[in-house]
Amino acid sequence: MKILVTGGAGFIGSAVVRLAVSRGHRVVNLDALTYAACLENVAPVADSPLYAFEHADIRDRAALDRIFAAHRPDAVMHLAAESHVDRSIDGPGDFVETNITGTYNMLEAARAFWTREGRPAGFRFHHISTDEVFGSLPADPAVKFTEDTPYDPRSPYSASKAASDHLVRAWHETYGLPVVLTNCSNNYGPYHFPEKLIPVVILNALAGKPLPVYGTGANIRDWLYVEDHADALLLVVEKGALGRSYNIGGENERTNLDLVKALCAILDRKRPKAAGSYADQITFVTDRPGHDARYAIDPGRIREELGWRPSVTVEEGLERTVQWYLDNEVWWRPLLARKGVGERLGVKA
Ligand SMILES: NC(=O)c1ccc[n+]([C@@H]2O[C@H](COP(=O)([O-])OP(=O)(O)OC[C@H]3O[C@@H](n4cnc5c(N)ncnc54)[C@H](O)[C@@H]3O)[C@@H](O)[C@H]2O)c1
Repeated sequence: MKILVTGGAGFIGSAVVRLAVSRGHRVVNLDALTYAACLENVAPVADSPLYAFEHADIRDRAALDRIFAAHRPDAVMHLAAESHVDRSIDGPGDFVETNITGTYNMLEAARAFWTREGRPAGFRFHHISTDEVFGSLPADPAVKFTEDTPYDPRSPYSASKAASDHLVRAWHETYGLPVVLTNCSNNYGPYHFPEKLIPVVILNALAGKPLPVYGTGANIRDWLYVEDHADALLLVVEKGALGRSYNIGGENERTNLDLVKALCAILDRKRPKAAGSYADQITFVTDRPGHDARYAIDPGRIREELGWRPSVTVEEGLERTVQWYLDNEVWWRPLLARKGVGERLGVKA
């Protein structure tokens, strides 16, 4: 299959690009190379004859038309987005432009191409979204997000992703565009940009800096190893039912505080401090405005209909992730100089 992946120089998109090429798919990586991008993320496949890169912005419709015409993809996997909730609080405009208008441009460019090609039945537009569109769950562990949970986004980021999900469904219902959607829980793993919780904790710990925990650290997230997410996404684009959405999650709920403590315990073993534990660096900071209390995914549909299961436990995934950051300073060190990295963002209320 020839897949046009948007956002393929980011964290999850690059995992998709690497996995797709390793499975023999042809991949065109379309990315604007924003502050969150890193072409080193796709270095393992960059020389493959199966891989091509297009430096383009999804806000630029003419560029999208040119890329569709030049590459004639069998499928689109649309991941390009502004993705950091804290940045969405400080500057929601970029989120509206890229996540909503950009997705609209992608849908229109895909629809024009698909129509011109004679509406091939096998064509797929796969929109990659987040569980954050469903809002915040109560503490009761029996209550989880299903595909039928009503949308209730509460941050500019999640609202922009919810809007994009609605557009994708509308293009299916109205124009017949063959779409599939996925909503996934929090990802972690190699190449995670060092402004997100897990890399911030690992890198601040190593630098002897405070490990910032928002509020009391009681917020619960459901963690999935990024390579398991990429595997689920390729399964959905190949086998997902038309017009259907699939929730993807690892069933690994942790409070933020427990997660940070688990990372400290791994670091204490792998890179012991001269004295004390990395957990001594934990510092409670002002909470994020509108911080959702709990996310948890019920992955029953993708498990039962498509047979997907995550392959990595959270314990194993965190070990691998910490080891990857210890081994790859050459990747993360230059990223610390990018705008906003290392600063506390998103405290405006
Ligand atoms: N990170 C998570 O835990 C998570 C969970 C569920 C869903 N998602 C979704 O998965 C997708 C990828 O997330 P991520 O964490 O890899 O994000 P990321 O921020 O690491 O990467 C985003 C990529 O999109 C590119 N991009 C941004 N604006 C663009 C534009 N206007 N035109 C072209 N390219 C542009 C960036 O350059 C970057 O390479 C997003 O759609 C996000 O909403 C993320």
